[in-house]
Amino acid sequence: MTTTNSSISKRAYGTTASGRAVDEYTLTNANGVEAKIITFGGIITSLRVPDRNGNFADVVLGFKELADYETKSPYFGALVGRYGNRIGKATFTLDGTKYTLALNDGPNSLHGGVKGFDKQVWAAKEAKSANGVGLELSYLSPDGEEGFPGNLSVTVGYTLTNDNAIQIDYSATTDKTTVVNLTNHSYFNLAGNGAGAIYNHIVQINADRYTPVSGTLIPTGELASVAGTPFDFRSPRVISGGLRSSHQQMVYGRGYDHNFVLNRKTASELEQAARIYDPSSGRAIEVWTTEPAMQFYTGNFVDGTLVGSSGGTYRQGDGLCLETQHYPDSPNQSNFPTTTLKPGDTYKTTTVYKFTTE
Ligand code: GLA
Repeated sequence: MTTTNSSISKRAYGTTASGRAVDEYTLTNANGVEAKIITFGGIITSLRVPDRNGNFADVVLGFKELADYETKSPYFGALVGRYGNRIGKATFTLDGTKYTLALNDGPNSLHGGVKGFDKQVWAAKEAKSANGVGLELSYLSPDGEEGFPGNLSVTVGYTLTNDNAIQIDYSATTDKTTVVNLTNHSYFNLAGNGAGAIYNHIVQINADRYTPVSGTLIPTGELASVAGTPFDFRSPRVISGGLRSSHQQMVYGRGYDHNFVLNRKTASELEQAARIYDPSSGRAIEVWTTEPAMQFYTGNFVDGTLVGSSGGTYRQGDGLCLETQHYPDSPNQSNFPTTTLKPGDTYKTTTVYKFTTE
């Protein structure tokens, strides 16, 4: 195999509607794997990895233009915060103070609000490391932004490693007690962006339990066993096998849109959460994380109205999301692992998406 040196380059990508300049960084590792990341939303707009024959394809859904990311994106490739996933009735109470967020998902708050971290322009710094190339993004979310308390200083490091992984290191500090749950919302299609549905991908998720939801996708509080349900991915199974199940949870989610409680051996070490394999291309993705859970979403709300970076439209199921996170609605559910961050403490999580072939 010919290897080159890893590299990073930068170009002007566009200007937001409000006049902010957005840059695009191209990270290339020693094997020619290439990730494009823009400073708007910290979005991974393209990720080119080889198949079993060494042919490269972009394995994430995206758009061709900034305006599309600004106005119509279902969070393609984006950094999501302050609170990834839903907060029930868009409200929570911390230290006796009630906070009210915008309703942007029926009766609930979703993914940090109307203008979440996915729509902010992040500051960027190149970071070349021994095992690859990196980009460090930072954003200061002011006290009260989208209804959340505290000035929250957030840093997200993206590293493209020479073993074909994207490592994402999240950290945050606050000056007032607040809640934080950061994730990345890439839609993967291992057969390639625009290649059709992901229904033949084979999924394995290291979770004995998941959090069933109500009709508005807020956890009921129960940690239910996956045994005997379409949510049992403890052994690899093809997505299509369970996708059309009449299980009440599949009806609520319009497919898979559920938080899996990961089986963990340690509290905060990197452990493998999932593996997704596409038999047609031979590409596989391993998900490693320090987080306690992962939302597995099969792109159920994608409806054929978006023209993507592939040049064609995206339909339901054309991508899948592997959103490592804390459980949805944790600020309102005292039996869930806490998402509270206090002044003086540092929020720190890491997730790795590693690409292999078989
Ligand atoms: C998450 C949610 C889904 C949907 C997408 C964005 O994955 O769980 O219900 O809102 O984000 O479209």
